Amino acid sequence: MLLTPLISLVGLVGLVQGSPVDAAAASSSSASAAWPNGPLVTSGRWIHDASGNNVTYAGANWPGAADTMLPEGLQFQSVDAIVAKIKSIGMNAIRLTYAIQMIDEIYANNGKDITIEAALTKALGATNGQTVLKQIIKNNPTFTASTTRLELFDAVAAACARQQIYVHLDNHISKAEWCCSTTDGNAWWGDTDFDVNNWVRGITYMAKHAAAWPSLVSMSLRNEPRSPDDKSAAATASKKTYNWQGWYKFVRQGADAIHAANPDVLIFLSGLGYDTDLSAVTKGSVLSPGSDKFRLDDFAGYGAQKIVLELHNYQNSATSCSSLESGLTNSGFSAMTGASSLQIPVVMTEFGFMMDTSTYKGVYATCLANFLPRIHAGWTIWVLSGSYYIRSGKQDFDETWGLLNHDWSAWRSPAYVKDQLQPMIKASLGQ
Ligand SMILES: *[C@@H]1O[C@H](CO)[C@@H](O)[C@H](O)[C@H]1NC(C)=O
Repeated sequence: MLLTPLISLVGLVGLVQGSPVDAAAASSSSASAAWPNGPLVTSGRWIHDASGNNVTYAGANWPGAADTMLPEGLQFQSVDAIVAKIKSIGMNAIRLTYAIQMIDEIYANNGKDITIEAALTKALGATNGQTVLKQIIKNNPTFTASTTRLELFDAVAAACARQQIYVHLDNHISKAEWCCSTTDGNAWWGDTDFDVNNWVRGITYMAKHAAAWPSLVSMSLRNEPRSPDDKSAAATASKKTYNWQGWYKFVRQGADAIHAANPDVLIFLSGLGYDTDLSAVTKGSVLSPGSDKFRLDDFAGYGAQKIVLELHNYQNSATSCSSLESGLTNSGFSAMTGASSLQIPVVMTEFGFMMDTSTYKGVYATCLANFLPRIHAGWTIWVLSGSYYIRSGKQDFDETWGLLNHDWSAWRSPAYVKDQLQPMIKASLGQ
């Protein structure tokens, strides 16, 4: 809070002069080329920039994959103000989520994205859609009714470039809606709403589109793979490949597609069970029911430089930090602590909890706030959003886990930000 006006000004200077380098000179302590000094690469368990400096993500999730398919929060604040908020506490990254449906609709519309007016009208109805559209334009005067959805994503990425925030672009879901369950039709490749070809087409499209963003450093293949458990024919067929062998086939297909479309980005692989398990990968087990093992060389020509693992954790009721840590190590973080033959970066791209005055003092939050910096793992907390345009059918949905309050104007739990989040950021970034 305290630093916001100052950082906003820095962002504004960068914006006015159109140069991200000015802000770089002000904030970067190590000698390096212009931010972000990419493309980023992996080197064993480390992520390096082009000068060989370690890069660790310390950031937040910014959702854009729900029904409107727009980055959230813009009916309350400007893009720059939201990015300045992230910057003000020293974070250096966002995980920006999108839905494959957005790209499906672009293809269905002869290659043209639809307008934010059309997107809001469809998701919120004519009356509320117009109200929210006017609010978005009021806060972001460079937008109009005919601005497109992707232009909003572009604006977020541009603001991140001006304020030196890395963008990790995440394919969160296929059908645009609140995620995730095992019966939502988006659980696994081939599930009811998770067409494999559309997915490859969608991640390829975004890899090419976002190659123009200076702030883009990495992309995911897919958020939280999980067992497809509904009774549809598609889910039943899809469930037959819900195993490590199926996983390896699909992640290689997706990684190859992204790498071919944009060879500069790091590519994040999510594990089974809602991305809570990468043990077969990091332990070098047989990828059952097949006999292959995970090998970076299988990602031909780029595996050893571009592949990163991501894990999620929501064991919010943990009562023992040591068992939480050993579970996380066992699920994948052993790849960063020396206990695995495979040494590869693992980023915790989701964890989170209720933003009230006390939850952050519990075992779960305090444990992660210590563990992740200690093992030099990057992380993005779920979630920045104070509220959603619409979530699960309810408009203007309040997010009690949001770092920001309902109108995205202030921290929801200032005590958490001051007492635990800022120290965690500092520890992670070695400041
Ligand atoms: C990265 O950080 C680790 C831990 O602080 C350190 O041992 C290593 O030398 C660093 N690598 C570079 C290239 O700075």
